Amino acid sequence: MSATVRLTADQLEQAALLLLNEGIVAFPTETVFGLGGLATSEQAIQRIFQAKGRPSDNPLIVHLGSVEQLSQCAVDVPDLAWKFFDRFAPGPLTLVLPKHPSLAPSVTAGLSTVGVRIPQHPIAHALLQRVAKPIAAPSANRSGSPSGTTWRSVLEDLDHRIDAILCEDGCQIGLESTVLDLCHANPRLLRAGAISMAELQEVVGSKVRIEHRTNDLSGPVASPGMKHRHYRPRATVVLFDSPNELSALLKSMEPTSQAYIGLEAPGGCVAWADCSLQPSVEAYAASLFEYLRQADRHGVEVIFCQRVSSDGIGMALMDRLQRACEPISKE
Ligand code: TXA
Ligand code: MG
Repeated sequence: MSATVRLTADQLEQAALLLLNEGIVAFPTETVFGLGGLATSEQAIQRIFQAKGRPSDNPLIVHLGSVEQLSQCAVDVPDLAWKFFDRFAPGPLTLVLPKHPSLAPSVTAGLSTVGVRIPQHPIAHALLQRVAKPIAAPSANRSGSPSGTTWRSVLEDLDHRIDAILCEDGCQIGLESTVLDLCHANPRLLRAGAISMAELQEVVGSKVRIEHRTNDLSGPVASPGMKHRHYRPRATVVLFDSPNELSALLKSMEPTSQAYIGLEAPGGCVAWADCSLQPSVEAYAASLFEYLRQADRHGVEVIFCQRVSSDGIGMALMDRLQRACEPISKE
């Protein structure tokens, strides 16, 4: 395929036309970059799966420009969904709802439900409003790699595999949206994100169940994304709690090319290939994926990442850190 066309913010019309003509286009959102395609076009959706190398049993999130378009992709929308969208749309929240029959079957990987999100990033918002049709968009990275939070990282994975990219950054949050399943008697959290447990519970008025990830790849799971390999850089990721624990770890390991990211200074006299001190959990979350990618570019062998407490976005950050250091299971 020819090189991916690089578009700027004043070329939104071109991006919208490509999408309407069943092309696939990467665009920034406030979480991570998405790789968009018309959710009613089986051809566009197949191309997204191919470009990403994504397992076909992992459904895509459908993106809208406004809640008024919800009837184009979901049916029997429960009252609770309206409450959530009133409070958090546009924003980093995906709701799993009963799907509309017009969606291409592979968008939902054969499930009867669809994940729906209304992004807040001005470019994503303007693009989706212009297209005025549901756009399926998984994170714009090769399957299994850290999600792309800069347009350069997206092209590193997807150049020549996708039609175009909107080359504007601004993925302020840096981790993917909170995914909440509203298709059961009680809401279930399928993926932690920037909308925290406490905020979700305020809307529901009671506890929200957390659906835990599984290592059992054989049977059905609440969210297929839970069982697939995710967010893994080439380097080995090692987690630790305190600078003391880090010192002990370093003593027990052979010296190698190593990088550090965390909230506290690492201490000691280690020659770090890169050392990134983060001023807050939010800043750490926003930098993580690009940091993992950068370490790979520099040929780092081990990345030490400090754990954080799981309040607020800390829960999402811990989830991604945990997955980044898991041994690779078969897919
Ligand atoms: O922030 C985000 O959500 C980004 C941006 C681009 O919007 N998108 C994103 O998409 O992270 P993706 O495809 O990388 O992750 C979607 C997750 C997967 O874990 C998938 O299994 C789950 O959402 N999901 C999608 N539809 C679902 C459904 N109908 N039922 C359960 N889980 C679903
Ligand atoms: Mg993804």
